[in-house]
Amino acid sequence: MDHDATSRPVPAAVPVAVVGAGTMGAGIAQVAATAGHHVVLVDAVPGAAGAALERLRAVLRRQVDKGRMTDAEATAVVARIEPAGSVDGLPEVGLVVEAVPEDLTLKQGLLAGVAAGQPPTTLLATNTSSLDITAIAAAVPAPERVLGLHFFNPPPLMRLVEVVHGAATAEAPLARATALMRAWGKTPVRCTSTPGFIVNRVARPFYGEAQRVVQEGIADPATVDWILREKCGFRMGPFELTDLIGQDVNYAVGASVWEQTGHDPRYAPTEFQRALVASGRLGRKSGEGVFSYAAEPAAARPDPDLVLAERLGSGPVEADPLARTVAMLVNEAVDLVHRGEASAADVDTAMRLGVNYPRGPVEWGRQIGFDVVAEQLAALDRAHPGGRYRPSPALTDGSLT
Ligand SMILES: NC(=O)c1ccc[n+]([C@@H]2O[C@H](COP(=O)([O-])OP(=O)(O)OC[C@H]3O[C@@H](n4cnc5c(N)ncnc54)[C@H](O)[C@@H]3O)[C@@H](O)[C@H]2O)c1
Repeated sequence: MDHDATSRPVPAAVPVAVVGAGTMGAGIAQVAATAGHHVVLVDAVPGAAGAALERLRAVLRRQVDKGRMTDAEATAVVARIEPAGSVDGLPEVGLVVEAVPEDLTLKQGLLAGVAAGQPPTTLLATNTSSLDITAIAAAVPAPERVLGLHFFNPPPLMRLVEVVHGAATAEAPLARATALMRAWGKTPVRCTSTPGFIVNRVARPFYGEAQRVVQEGIADPATVDWILREKCGFRMGPFELTDLIGQDVNYAVGASVWEQTGHDPRYAPTEFQRALVASGRLGRKSGEGVFSYAAEPAAARPDPDLVLAERLGSGPVEADPLARTVAMLVNEAVDLVHRGEASAADVDTAMRLGVNYPRGPVEWGRQIGFDVVAEQLAALDRAHPGGRYRPSPALTDGSLT
């Protein structure tokens, strides 16, 4: 491969193709067009790409009405997007981003087909949330230019993009993609194709510890949410957040990480969430989840037990929802760094921008003291043996201090 050609940033004039005009694809097309690219937006469903463009036109019209952009700017963005019904006949582009449904065979076939009509310098990106980039690239000619560009929803508003490399991805295409994301106004972070990448991996204990605290009868969900919001600075507690995301969606992400890590006990799903999903209590979208939403707007949320919250905060770590959660988040974050899957700075940036954490978990661990976190995990491990609470070697080997 021509190293120099792949190291050059993709100039704004180079056309981009986005395949899949659903939630993510339409948003990514908007971001690329706003950055000045001509964008071919492809969707296999007849009329879907055109409909996405119409929705964008309406969104931008409202932006113009609110004075956030000029009429000329809005018109120019829409004019740069060309809807298409198929990737057949796609012109040469500098970057393809696929955002079709989460199915390995579908994504492999699509990128392999697209690759056949593009020069070897074209970057081929997948927006997959959970599939292995190495596995997707394996089916594609010149897999060194296949990488993950994991945008967050909604792409025009969320600054974070995880730039993910598989085993075959070369450095030059990664550097080009990273520079391009910066040119699009995004904050790129780099990571390997580890299950869950950074955000969906490190965030697991935020949900899992809360569910275990409730399962163990330590506190009720409203009190756990209150502690994590009010005492810890998270924007939402884990139960109200999973009710918003959808208990089924959150369960599936966790189960996927658990499967892909060979059933590592750190990610084992809880009976608490399994029961919610099995009974159809999926959260806001089903009217009932951990909390009830039937009486909207005056949704009946139980009051937190503030006396209990204070007592738990001064007790042992095993019964302290805040200390347990933070210790596990720190452990997960430093372990990712320890395995060489992402840098400490990128992990912290990803968690602050991707899920609005009040602090980056590596920095948080440094403030608490990695030795203190290791002691907390050791106490949790004695109380709940089995490997879930095993401390990362990075907490005690001095590599992060
Ligand atoms: N929704 C999210 O919050 C989110 C966030 C990050 C990443 N992702 C990932 O982004 C991808 C897309 O997710 P989404 O939520 O936008 O899905 P979506 O269902 O909203 O959109 C997918 C679109 O792809 C089209 N499509 C299906 N097969 C096609 C084909 N062969 N060629 C062209 N178009 C085809 C569908 O018609 C549909 O419009 C998935 O891999 C998902 O895991 C989703």
